[in-house]
Amino acid sequence: MMTTLNQGPKSQRMTKNQWSALESTKFEKIHSDVFSDSTQAAKAVAHEIAALIQYKSGRNQKCILGLATGSSPIKVYEELVRMHKEEGLSFKNVVAFNLDEYYGLGKEDVQSYVYFMHHHLFSHVDIDPENINIPDGTIAPNKVANYCAYYEDKIDSMGGLDFQLLGIGRTGHIGFNEPGSKERSLTRMVTLDYLTRLDNAFAFDNMNEVPKKAITMGVGTILKANRIVIMAWGLKKAEIVHKTVEGHVSADIPAAFLQRHSDVTFVMDVLAASELTRFKTPWLVGDTSWTSETSRKAVVWLSEKLQKPILKLTERDYNDHGMSELLAERSGYDVNIAMFNYFQHTLTGWPGGKPNADDSQRPERANPAKKRVIIFSPHPDDDVISMGGTFLRLIEQGHEVHVAYQTSGNIAVSDHEALLYAEFAEQFSEYLSKNDGKNKALFSKAIKLLKGKKQYKVIPEEIRKIKALIRRGEAISACRYYGLPDSHVHYLDLPFYETGRVEKAPLSGDDVTLIRNLIEEIKPHQIFAAGDLADPHGTHKVCFDAIIMALEQLKDESFLKDCWLWLYRGAWHEYPTHEIEMAVPLSPDQLIRKREAIFRHQSQKDGVMFQGEDSREFWQRAEDRNKDTAARYNALGLAEYEAIEAFKRYHF
Ligand code: F6R
Repeated sequence: MMTTLNQGPKSQRMTKNQWSALESTKFEKIHSDVFSDSTQAAKAVAHEIAALIQYKSGRNQKCILGLATGSSPIKVYEELVRMHKEEGLSFKNVVAFNLDEYYGLGKEDVQSYVYFMHHHLFSHVDIDPENINIPDGTIAPNKVANYCAYYEDKIDSMGGLDFQLLGIGRTGHIGFNEPGSKERSLTRMVTLDYLTRLDNAFAFDNMNEVPKKAITMGVGTILKANRIVIMAWGLKKAEIVHKTVEGHVSADIPAAFLQRHSDVTFVMDVLAASELTRFKTPWLVGDTSWTSETSRKAVVWLSEKLQKPILKLTERDYNDHGMSELLAERSGYDVNIAMFNYFQHTLTGWPGGKPNADDSQRPERANPAKKRVIIFSPHPDDDVISMGGTFLRLIEQGHEVHVAYQTSGNIAVSDHEALLYAEFAEQFSEYLSKNDGKNKALFSKAIKLLKGKKQYKVIPEEIRKIKALIRRGEAISACRYYGLPDSHVHYLDLPFYETGRVEKAPLSGDDVTLIRNLIEEIKPHQIFAAGDLADPHGTHKVCFDAIIMALEQLKDESFLKDCWLWLYRGAWHEYPTHEIEMAVPLSPDQLIRKREAIFRHQSQKDGVMFQGEDSREFWQRAEDRNKDTAARYNALGLAEYEAIEAFKRYHF
């Protein structure tokens, strides 16, 4: 049998570590390999595939691969392409069968999976085009059934799949086998779940254009493969990973059928693994290393589970819930007091530090009393959505606040919104009739494009410019509402974002330089940045990486020694309570001002393009999230606030 990820040879006797590993994974019914980040994980998967291709090639055999699309395998394909180019990995003996294709899309459609596979893999390696098999989404309805039987037979006639690569949808689908799919289902036409269509809507102009049907290999087709590797990255997948790995087998979660396969590995990053018992509540499955963070996590968990404020937890509560070791050196009473004080000290109405106050128990330094602050906002509305209340307090408390919009955010403006502005500008310039005809031509071209049925692979520059200007206008309007001078608003327009497509370019030195220059110019005492790693399209993570790289380049500058970096989370998730290091309460009136600032982002209201499955608008989500944090603090026994914005310090 081929090598599998991270599985070493089986020794005869179990070591203590192996016993405790076994204990900690006792609820896991699928072997799971957890990596610290998705890049390392994807490389490990690519290396397993490469080893299999070479093993087969060495025996003059074909290597039959089942391949997936979606965001999860992109880095796997990147690594395979690199190995082909730099290490001579050949795909000559590979026969590929893709899992699925949208029904109704053909190879010319940029959203089709044929396009995806050529773009990410096939066009860059030496696979024989004859050996590429992807379900044909253009087959006539009356021929679909025969076509699916032919696809299934073709896999069987090659001797079956040696290896199947999978992602997992949040519905628990593998391939496009949505909940309800049978264990023995074969290749067939299926109807996509609403959640799946929403998750994939980012590639289309609007939800109506996302196909409703697809052709997919069945669960049975997948289970016939010799070896299966399924991948999941990011917090967004944590819940479904937990249900798949630790839950019961049922058609409600088609991925859980993988529990019945004898050679499957679930490869995930720590974020996707975070709901597994061994990470979420390690004290319930054996030895726990009681760091201060784990202790906080456990106490919050206990308090929430028993619905008791921290100060009312008893020693028996601790002992009954696998936490007796926490009491080894201290009484329950002492643990309660220490924990309560910890959370109490995270609360502050002075996010820039309280002047002339003892700051030994406060999250921020008192000095200097007037700080220079940069708020980095990945998209033009993340500043107000994620930390609008804190932003306002910093200004009102007299700090020199700058806000830097890292990307133009143009991708998220719909065509109809852009058309409104373009037609306005055209008509207004006609009215003024003073223009030299040049501007008019530009707008006329853009209007023609915006009105037409667009199938462009890259959004044309004219349109991007209009959309970017719309977002700039909205962002500065929100800043003015808060009283920030225009000169403190910086638009970085990082180049990595400007591809005109949802898929972005890799981060480059130019991106980092733009950020570094701004930090060097302002010499901030505080930087606020988005640490929201659950952003579905990864832009926040890239923007964060760019900041870290810029800080790395500046690490010898003396001003950086006085600079603290605070992270906020974006619209999608909040920090778990035990991770919060600064909690800034908002009064009801402050919350309304924050809402008004979010309202300035008109193009992002009313069913925006990248809303995800949450139908609430951004201002509603922000309010609900901030109110929820306040309620969680209150339930721990702390004071009752209307809302709280949360931050975590990042030590660089
Ligand atoms: C893709 C496929 C799907 C995806 C799943 C996860 O060929 O069959 O099952 O693997 O929807 O998609 P991502 O990876 O984009 O989260």
